[in-house]
Amino acid sequence: MATDASHPVRVLAMMNQKGGVGKTTTTVNLAAAIAEQGRRVLIVDLDPQAHASLHLGVEDDDQPTVYDLLFEPEMGVGECVRKIHANLDIVPAETDLAAVETELAAYGDRNARLAKAINDGSLPYEFVLLDCPPALGLLTLNALTAAQEVIIPMQAHFLALQGVSKLLETVGLVRDQLNPVLRVAGIVLCMHDSQTSHSKEVVADLERFFESQRASPTAWSSARVYRPAIRRNIKLAECPSFGQSIFDYAPWAPGAVDYRKLAETIVAEWDRALAAAKASDLSEAEIRVLRGSLASSKPPMMPSTD
Ligand SMILES: Nc1ncnc2c1ncn2[C@@H]1O[C@H](COP(=O)(O)OP(=O)(O)OP(=O)(O)O)[C@@H](O)[C@H]1O
Ligand SMILES: [Mg+2]
Repeated sequence: MATDASHPVRVLAMMNQKGGVGKTTTTVNLAAAIAEQGRRVLIVDLDPQAHASLHLGVEDDDQPTVYDLLFEPEMGVGECVRKIHANLDIVPAETDLAAVETELAAYGDRNARLAKAINDGSLPYEFVLLDCPPALGLLTLNALTAAQEVIIPMQAHFLALQGVSKLLETVGLVRDQLNPVLRVAGIVLCMHDSQTSHSKEVVADLERFFESQRASPTAWSSARVYRPAIRRNIKLAECPSFGQSIFDYAPWAPGAVDYRKLAETIVAEWDRALAAAKASDLSEAEIRVLRGSLASSKPPMMPSTD
């Protein structure tokens, strides 16, 4: 699908307040896999650890970063991007970002700075993936205000389930108060071992829960557990130290195979939603409104515009 300035953009926040669950690995490799399919993709690194930037070999330089973008949203994303591949760009983070939480607190629109920078209707990307830090602070709030959808990378452990309910509650609050189109797209199981009975039980619990929520008016009523789960694969842990995604480092390793298939699912559900919107004769502007109600198996529902 051609991408032009008026094309709808799917903005996905990779969010989990728990550390080390696979947010950055999923952001970088899912983005690279979507780009490999010929779609234009932007990563925004919102983590002061700058792991996504380092993963793609972007070192500290004197160019503007996401820090500058948050303080001067009007400067535009184009000023801050580094090109990684033909279809893949990143707005990197820098360690100065650690101070952003306190500095941004002085602004009335402190939660909406990133939204202002990326939702200007002229972004030359079809997918934007936001790598959140492992905390529920202003940086994560900026991601949730700018995104239409949340993807939750997690491991299938019993204790992680409690973290997910806290996370869903947060997304619900942001949807109620800051971003009415926000929804949870689903869970990506990372470092997954499908053989243990424990992980099977946790996945079954998650699926039962989401099924029970289908008719609810919540932000997670159309959420799913994405397939395939991403297997534990040492190549995925190795590639950041080479500044490469898995597709440059080990393109046929199990980690690459899994992220490639996941990207196909994510792209296909977006194409289905756009096709459904076009079939119902919506204008580009209406499709933009609709972007928050994307559902994988059901036709998207338009929010009332009365
Ligand atoms: N499928 C996988 N197989 C093997 N190692 C993995 C896999 N996914 C992630 N890792 C490794 O696990 C560690 C944590 O992953 P990652 O950095 O993506 O988590 P994170 O949620 O972004 O962490 P943080 O909360 O600190 O930002 C990293 O060393 C990463 O290389
Ligand atoms: Mg990370």
